Amino acid sequence: MLRTLTSAVVGAAALLACSFPLQAQDAVRVGLILPLTGPFAPTGRQIEAGVRLYMQQQGTTVAGKKIELVVKDDGNVADNTKRIAQELVVNEKVNVLAGFGLTPLALATAPIATEAKVPMVIMSAATAIIPDRSPYIVRTSQVTSQTTIGIADWAPKNGIKRVVTLVTDYAPGIDIEKSFSERFKAAGGEIIEQIRVPLANPDFAPFLQRVHDAKPEGLFVFLPAGVGSIFMKQFVERGLDKSGVRLIGTGDMTDDDILNGIGDVALGITTSHHYSALHPSALNKAFVADFRKASNLRPNFMGVAGYDGMQLIYKALEKTKGAPNGDALVEAMKGMAWESPRGPISIDPQTRDIVQNIYVRKVERVDGELYNVEFQTFEAVKKP
Ligand code: PHB
Repeated sequence: MLRTLTSAVVGAAALLACSFPLQAQDAVRVGLILPLTGPFAPTGRQIEAGVRLYMQQQGTTVAGKKIELVVKDDGNVADNTKRIAQELVVNEKVNVLAGFGLTPLALATAPIATEAKVPMVIMSAATAIIPDRSPYIVRTSQVTSQTTIGIADWAPKNGIKRVVTLVTDYAPGIDIEKSFSERFKAAGGEIIEQIRVPLANPDFAPFLQRVHDAKPEGLFVFLPAGVGSIFMKQFVERGLDKSGVRLIGTGDMTDDDILNGIGDVALGITTSHHYSALHPSALNKAFVADFRKASNLRPNFMGVAGYDGMQLIYKALEKTKGAPNGDALVEAMKGMAWESPRGPISIDPQTRDIVQNIYVRKVERVDGELYNVEFQTFEAVKKP
């Protein structure tokens, strides 16, 4: 009787253990919060594809720990991002928060990372001040003021001296307007007008009329990833493609996800940025092929930031020998350096921000497709 009872208890305990997820100490949970619906869904889709590709290539065990990914959609609403982050930390016991499509979403969530002492890996949002908002923030995407280096230097040397700037009217746009203007003027350029366009449902027509009337040699543009195709359609509708105004900007406008869809009118647009799907390295060639195979997408700079963000989390866990403590993970991330599909990158130990090459690129047709073809490199650019 006693024997039967004991084995029944043991059996029940075993059954119970099997029906529960891995014990907290055996798993490291990563909460990935992205806009997966709404106008910025392509950003979320790219980042998720990059994260999943890295996990597919490297497997889901690091330093003896099982990596569990929890993906949530915030619909690009900052209150959602913050609430989801809180739920992920409190209920889902995530060890790392990641994602963050647009600046307001990252800024809203920063206090949660600080309070919970959980690393927050920024895979998109680019405004310079973001990592200052929490000592747990580390960024693998880009810094606004970093990506204007290159085009601000190239343009005045290439016959583009009188310029109108057009940026999306929120934090990263304001940052970029300022950093581009300062550097461009120092290089001999002149800004004749500055235009800011709303983030929500932008209608570019009235702003493009102002550009038409100002008759600049060049129009410098910053728009967050994905918005470039709407802009280019209206640019053509207003006949600006035939007006002699040369288009320059940060590479957010000609991101790899939308470039083929924009079509030949994009030919010749010159931008500076940190990633092109045509970046000429063996690592990038393999990355682009694997990315296409896994998700049927051409990777853009969001895809590569998701891939590198997951890589950073894996490498930090290897360094802590699987210890998921937030302070230890952030310490391990500081100064980490590796080769990304975009080129060599590292995490600045002082700012926790990404250090990377910035390339000047021109849109050309290569093997039947449109690409940003890199022709000049500014090496290891830190947050200015
Ligand atoms: C941002 O909101 O910080 C942001 C988003 C997309 C970009 C650049 C900046 O392409």
